[in-house]
Amino acid sequence: MKLAVLTGGGDCPGLNAAIRAVVYRARRAGHTTVGALDGWKGLRDGAFRPLLPSDVVHAVTRGGTLLGTSRTNPFKSEADAAKLLSSVEAAKLDAVIAIGGDDTLSAAREFARRGGKVVGVPKTMDNDVGGTDWTFGFDSASSVAMEALERLRDTAASHHRAIVLEVMGRDAGWVALATGLAAAADYTLLPEEPYREAELASHVRAALAARGCAVIVASEGVDLGAAAGEVGGQDQFGHELLKERGVGAILARRIEELTRVESRSAQIGHIQRGGPPTLFDRILATRLGAKAVDLVTEGKFGTVAVLRGEEIRGIPFDEALARPKRVPAEWMDLLHTFDA
Ligand code: F6P
Repeated sequence: MKLAVLTGGGDCPGLNAAIRAVVYRARRAGHTTVGALDGWKGLRDGAFRPLLPSDVVHAVTRGGTLLGTSRTNPFKSEADAAKLLSSVEAAKLDAVIAIGGDDTLSAAREFARRGGKVVGVPKTMDNDVGGTDWTFGFDSASSVAMEALERLRDTAASHHRAIVLEVMGRDAGWVALATGLAAAADYTLLPEEPYREAELASHVRAALAARGCAVIVASEGVDLGAAAGEVGGQDQFGHELLKERGVGAILARRIEELTRVESRSAQIGHIQRGGPPTLFDRILATRLGAKAVDLVTEGKFGTVAVLRGEEIRGIPFDEALARPKRVPAEWMDLLHTFDA
């Protein structure tokens, strides 16, 4: 078979490991692999590059995606959809492996509905794809945020300040949760919980009284209600660009007003998405990439390779995309056990 692999949506550490696994597993099964450049855009426009094991031999260690990515929605118009289908035919592709988050996988489901032979691989630093226990990219991104919070605590302690670290994650609080838990934040704000200003202020005061500083983690998706800033546009899938809201900066100002404690904020933004993947992400991405090829080889199209417990298995797109994964009450309870 001739396979095309693509990476769509925001990049994250582990994508190259998954691509490498696809290429090697495909070779073992007797398939050839090409890479579609910049996600669905490359598949739609016929932009491909050959992929041999020699092209990806050390890719497991590298961040980003060697294929490039974009947030192109190939089903935005019927003209785009028709172009995509004829490009796949012209390239004589037998199957497509689409690596991405909810948006990329939703496009893959639509491709399957229109007769495309496709298998999905979930990835995202947001960890919000419903059908899988964890997505690769999340562990790496959260590890960067964890280290950032520890650095912020050093300087917050020197100046007796409160510092808010704003992390990505869109509408899911997984990155904020992991950062807050792993780096001992004094308080963490998640999009899944209502904004409780009085509670925030009281935890900041308590931390200042006990340790002379406070470090707070805020997910970019927290709804600050009346205190919220302007929203800065949308991507092709209709998502707000949440970074533009500046939740961290708004919170730092509010903390200063409410507590009179000098406050600062830091937005680590895309720093979370770069750099080499952690061990966990390398292994998960490798297992999922290999499984995707196995699903293709077995003719199990319209499926997504996912992690369930210790096992990697294939599930239908509808099951994988049934509902996005949000932080549940049990995790919130654990998180708030450690509030200052
Ligand atoms: O979905 C991954 C993510 O990093 C989100 O956490 C964030 O809101 C968004 O992508 C940022 O998108 P962009 O890279 O287009 O600015």
